[in-house]
Amino acid sequence: MATVTSHTSVKTQSYIDRELKFGAHNYHPVPVVIERGEGVYVWDVDGKQYLDFLSAYSAVNQGHCHPRIVNVMIEQAQKLTLTSRAFHNNILGECEEFMAGLFGFDKVLMMNSGVEAVETAMKLARKWAYKVKGVEKDKARLLFAKNNFHGRTLSVVSASTDTGARQGFSPFTPNIDTVAFNDLDALEEAFKSSPDYAAFIVEPIQGEAGVIVPDDNYLKEVALMCRKYNVLFIADEIQTGMGRTGRLLATCGDCHCPAGKCHQSQSVKPDIVILGKALSGGVMPVSAVLASDEVMLTIKPGEHGSTFGGNPLACAVAVEALKVLIDENLPENADQMGKLFREGLELIAANNRLVTAVRGRGLLNAIVIDSEEDSYLAWNICMEFKDNGLLAKPTHGNKIRLAPPLVINETQLNAALSIIEKSLHSFL
Ligand SMILES: Cc1ncc(COP(=O)(O)O)c(C=O)c1O
Repeated sequence: MATVTSHTSVKTQSYIDRELKFGAHNYHPVPVVIERGEGVYVWDVDGKQYLDFLSAYSAVNQGHCHPRIVNVMIEQAQKLTLTSRAFHNNILGECEEFMAGLFGFDKVLMMNSGVEAVETAMKLARKWAYKVKGVEKDKARLLFAKNNFHGRTLSVVSASTDTGARQGFSPFTPNIDTVAFNDLDALEEAFKSSPDYAAFIVEPIQGEAGVIVPDDNYLKEVALMCRKYNVLFIADEIQTGMGRTGRLLATCGDCHCPAGKCHQSQSVKPDIVILGKALSGGVMPVSAVLASDEVMLTIKPGEHGSTFGGNPLACAVAVEALKVLIDENLPENADQMGKLFREGLELIAANNRLVTAVRGRGLLNAIVIDSEEDSYLAWNICMEFKDNGLLAKPTHGNKIRLAPPLVINETQLNAALSIIEKSLHSFL
């Protein structure tokens, strides 16, 4: 089967055509043009309502246009938006103190996009390797997991194992290696192979790769092994953080959860945590790197920065976005709704041979579609979801990530399950 034609109005098509004509062709979006969002819902230019099951790749965990976050944004925007870091502003310190306390780290470095924060962590790791670990000049190495996704800049795609992300962009940043995800023996082999590793950088659950959940003990063992070999353990929680997996951070344990708010099965404290996406509730790009004094203070004035990083607008928004997560118990809701959702998906899968696997944690989930006969099947299923009022997009061919805003309730979840069941059934 080739791609099916989904129902696209003349109005919708005119928006799409304009983007195609005047914009770069660096994405292949689902053909829907959204003009409004509220909570778990978005509406297209024809007024059709959808359940958003992508959440802007987990950036709108608090729901679209959360009124508290939008209000803080408006109030701050009317007072002060940007000073640059040439001067102090009255919100940055408050934001840093709040985040350091909440996540249990000494220091916070605010950036903008996710990939910038990953780059920041890579630079911090190299500095730490030279200044603290004592690695010889130019020898520091960084280790990543295979099939990772950490963003799109040149040094970050240097760590990618995805052909599409790399092809035509060489030469790459040197001294970057990859090791199989969820393979502790391979990790130890790598660490033994060189004393020059500065850091192992890993997503606690590989989102873009298709929501690959590692074994229960993996992250804990990674933390221990990194300590044993004096290598920094860097958790990229840009997608898994901010309540998405049913806890404030996917790696967080008793050590750095807001008291009594989470209920973890394991306690793992990385040396560096990277946050982005829902750190702003999706209203603007805000990212952050959290680390100890030992790591963070290796960088001196003039050695790293960003004009917009730490701006008062972003900081005010980030504090409110975090408070909303906590006040509305969104990690717990993600945990509870996630369990119900996977139960519902398992039931659908049991009666539909096209779904070969259901996996995930909290509200970061995926179904795997049998793509033996038809490599477009997952895309076509997403078109059918769209026509039936639910938005999702395949990742890595035959996996469909299902990750609604964490404010979703049981009625909305059941409505989504009905759409998913009905849509999948139409392909049998
Ligand atoms: C785990 C992870 N790291 C980094 C990024 C990059 O974030 P951004 O697109 O904001 O640069 C993403 C984006 O999807 C991500 O999922």
